[in-house]
This record gives sequence, C-alpha cells and structure tokens, in this order.
Amino acid sequence: MQFIKYETHDAIGIITIDRQEALNALNTDVLNELDGVINSIDLDTIRVVILTGAGTKSFVAGADIAEMCHLSHAEGKRFSHKGLRVFRKLELFPAPVIAAVNGYALGGGCELALSCDIRICSENAMFGQPEVTLGITPGFGGTQRLARTIGVGKAKEMIYTAKPIKADEAYRLGLVNAVYPQAELIPEAIKLAEKIAHNAPIAVRACKEAINYGLQVDIDSSLRIEGNIFGSCFETADQVAGMEAFLAKKKIDKFQNK
Ligand code: CAA
Repeated sequence: MQFIKYETHDAIGIITIDRQEALNALNTDVLNELDGVINSIDLDTIRVVILTGAGTKSFVAGADIAEMCHLSHAEGKRFSHKGLRVFRKLELFPAPVIAAVNGYALGGGCELALSCDIRICSENAMFGQPEVTLGITPGFGGTQRLARTIGVGKAKEMIYTAKPIKADEAYRLGLVNAVYPQAELIPEAIKLAEKIAHNAPIAVRACKEAINYGLQVDIDSSLRIEGNIFGSCFETADQVAGMEAFLAKKKIDKFQNK
C-alpha cells in the first residue's frame, strides 16, 4: 500500500493515512487502500482499531480537491458513494474504532472521524466542513453524522458557515471526548484502546451493534434489539468466565473472544 500504513500492538490495530504532501487528503487510491486495510484486519486478534493521520499537521484535510475539480454529475455521485461505502464499513466494523485526530480534520477528514466510534484529538486539531466554499455539499456523511453527533443547530451552523472550530470548541460540543498535547495523542489513544481491549470482545462488539442499530429505530424496537443482543452474550465462554470470576472474587486476566 502506498498511502496507508497498518501496524499492530498486541490486540490493537493502528491505521495511519500517510499522504503528507496533500495533508493526507483522500483521493480514490487512498479510499481504495483504506477499504482494503479494513477488510484485512484480523478480528480474531484485533480488539480495537486506532485511525490517525501521518505527521503533526493534519489528520485528513478532506477529499482530494484536485481529483474532484472536473468531475461530472455522475462521477461526483460515484466518488461520494465510494467514500460513503468505505466510511460506513468503518462505522459498522465489528470492533470499536478510535479516531486520533492529530491536526486538520476538514471536509472528508471530519466525516472520517465521525464514522469512528470515539474521537480524541491533539490541541492543534481543527474540525470543519468547508464544502460550501468549494461549491459542493459534504459528501462522505457530514450532513448526516455531524447533526447526529453535535445536534442539528450546531451542525447546520458549521456546514452553512464553513467556519472551522478548534479542539477546545470540538470538546465543548461533544465532537471529541478528550484533547491532548500532540505528543501524548497516540499514547493516550493506545491507553484508551487497551482499556477497551481488556474487556470481553464479544460483549464490546455487541454493545457497538446495539448502540449503532438502536439509535436508528424507534425506542420499542431499539429496546428489543438490546434484549436480543444481551441474550446473545449468554453461553459464551467469556460470559461464563466473567461471571464465575466475579463470584469467586477473582479478576479475568484475558478474555478469549469466545
Ligand atoms: N485536496 C487536495 N489537496 C489538498 C487538500 C485537499 N483537500 N488539502 C490540502 N491539499 C494540498 C494543498 O493543495 C497543498 O499542495 P501543494 O503543496 O502541492 O500546493 C498541500 O496540501 C499543503 O496545503 P496548503 O499549502 O494549503 O497548507 P496550509 O497549511 O496553507 O493550509 C489547509 C492547510 C487550511 C488545511 C488548506 O490546505 C485547506 O484549506 N485545504 C482544503 C480543506 C478543504 O476544503 N477540505 C474539504 C475538501 S471537500 C470534501 O472533503 C468533500 C467531501 O465531503 C467528500
């Protein structure tokens, strides 16, 4: 792969988008490689994924403007659907994904972070949806996920004005869960990932599924989903081991993902 690096630390997979000459902007090749790396992650061993950008300036500065500049209607739609499909794959990825936003998260970059389960960022991070300054709309999920994450009013303000917000404002709005000095961002992301990875993976993945699906349906349907997913955890080796350990006043060293 030319633009994506993938490394693992025990049960944590780290995806780094590395196209620094264009501030990690997403062109077709980057999207294809991102798609490929998501497909290749070994879910038997990996329990949490961290997604970040290479360098200290930018997470992802958006979709590639040079590539989009002369697209036709049909090509624009195809490009959007490609990004939407890859980002949705990330959103539905069975294990949690943490976006470690290390600088600009503009346009497609903000949308990519929004497709992750949890966002943390560095102090120099900047979030925004500048598409209307380019004569287009957000096209990788921004009109939908930003409103669902920070509320309709603030999302509309950000999208209509195209005004970027800094890390502290992103924290205040609940767009990110925490802000760290640049050097501490990845170590903190790993610490958070380790904390999640220590818990029973089947249960963590089931929680992700319940939250993701439950939020899209009415409350009665969502509670039925919760009940069914709760039930599905029983008779797993990790459920039995977790509860037996509690009753025996012991701690589980490592869940088996079974
Ligand atoms: N696409 C293509 N190239 C990009 C890019 C992008 N989104 N963002 C930055 N680059 C390139 C620049 O063209 C420049 O390349 P050259 O060195 O070859 O000239 C290089 O990255 C460095 O960028 P700058 O010189 O502009 O760096 P800066 O520090 O002065 O500014 C910035 C940084 C404020 C992030 C500025 O680069 C910028 O505004 N980028 C565009 C941000 C944007 O509008 N993103 C939304 C794209 S549309 C979208 O994403 C649609 C969607 O929803 C799917």
